[in-house]
Amino acid sequence: MKQKVILITGAAGFIGSNLAKNILQKDSEVQVIGVDNLNDYYDVSLKEYRLKELENWDNFSFHKGNIADRSFLEQIFQKWEPEIVVNLAAQAGVRYSITNPDAYIESNILGFYNILECCRHSYDDGKPGVKHLVYASSSSIYGLNKEVPYRTEDKTDKPVSLYAATKKSNELLAHAYSKLYGIPCTGLRFFTVYGPCGRPDMAYFGFTNKMVKGEKIQLFNYGDMYRDFTYIDDIVKGVSAVMEKAPDANEDGVRVKVYNIGNHQPVSLKFFVETLENCLRKAGVIDSEAEKEFLPMQPGDVYQTYADVSELEKDFGFKPDTPLEVGLTAFAEWYAGYYRRK
Ligand SMILES: NC(=O)c1ccc[n+]([C@@H]2O[C@H](COP(=O)([O-])OP(=O)(O)OC[C@H]3O[C@@H](n4cnc5c(N)ncnc54)[C@H](O)[C@@H]3O)[C@@H](O)[C@H]2O)c1
Repeated sequence: MKQKVILITGAAGFIGSNLAKNILQKDSEVQVIGVDNLNDYYDVSLKEYRLKELENWDNFSFHKGNIADRSFLEQIFQKWEPEIVVNLAAQAGVRYSITNPDAYIESNILGFYNILECCRHSYDDGKPGVKHLVYASSSSIYGLNKEVPYRTEDKTDKPVSLYAATKKSNELLAHAYSKLYGIPCTGLRFFTVYGPCGRPDMAYFGFTNKMVKGEKIQLFNYGDMYRDFTYIDDIVKGVSAVMEKAPDANEDGVRVKVYNIGNHQPVSLKFFVETLENCLRKAGVIDSEAEKEFLPMQPGDVYQTYADVSELEKDFGFKPDTPLEVGLTAFAEWYAGYYRRK
């Protein structure tokens, strides 16, 4: 019998590498194929470091390439015939989309379209093809929504950044492809993911780098912003549970579903920074309090994110629950070890 093949795009990324590691640790029977273009949106050595760990497993193979390159992706699909595809490759970040819009159209629109086309053609000549496409959406698609917690059935047609608009487009494209070609698709709306070896472009990592150098940190909207910070292990648990169960047909006969994966306990940016500082002090990363600059809201930012995770809980009996202090302690300890070695 053919080994189960799982394709993970964005495998050198924060979420992709953690997901791949979790699958490889749990199941030696599965073949994990990682794809990533290792772009330099942030420090590439972090991506290489994550990949190095994955290369310990014989049933992991890595292919460097761009999902916007159709022929590259076609070759991957033809060679490996994945049963499950998890698309995490994307140009992330809200603020960067103001200055670098092209990157979002290339990776998030063209790249995702290529994923859908490859899934569609995986059924050619009567092949079993892709049984489930899981892809990353984002909490940012709730845009100007005022009512919290954000529920998956809420309208999401008021994005405030190009990044959010591309993620919403992914959900629409997935719906169309699922209806037309029967590809079972699940979109996951992640809420501000943090943890060890995370993304240096995100606030907690950037703040830490600044604190270490004794530089001022900037708190937008004067620190009065709320985020549903979600620990990486909870995200990985959620994605691995969802991957194993493709959605049944909905009332329209379409096999699509979206879930929120968030901590459903938003905290203020101010509280977050205080907790981060405490954890960094305990881990010996800093020894004094950071100087803070309080600034107005930035374009593209939303005031708060807050996930209603009842759908995830109903279908998978799981909801994220790692306390902020536990997650930030793990981050601080990782940071201390990683940068001490360098
Ligand atoms: N981390 C979060 O808080 C968060 C929140 C919401 C949604 N998401 C989404 O989750 C997914 C994973 O996020 P992450 O935090 O791991 O980000 P990440 O940037 O660490 O990982 C994405 C990876 O995809 C790769 N990539 C980008 N464009 C590519 C392309 N065209 N072809 C091949 N590889 C490409 C990058 O090199 C990177 O390694 C993304 O789709 C992101 O938009 C993340």
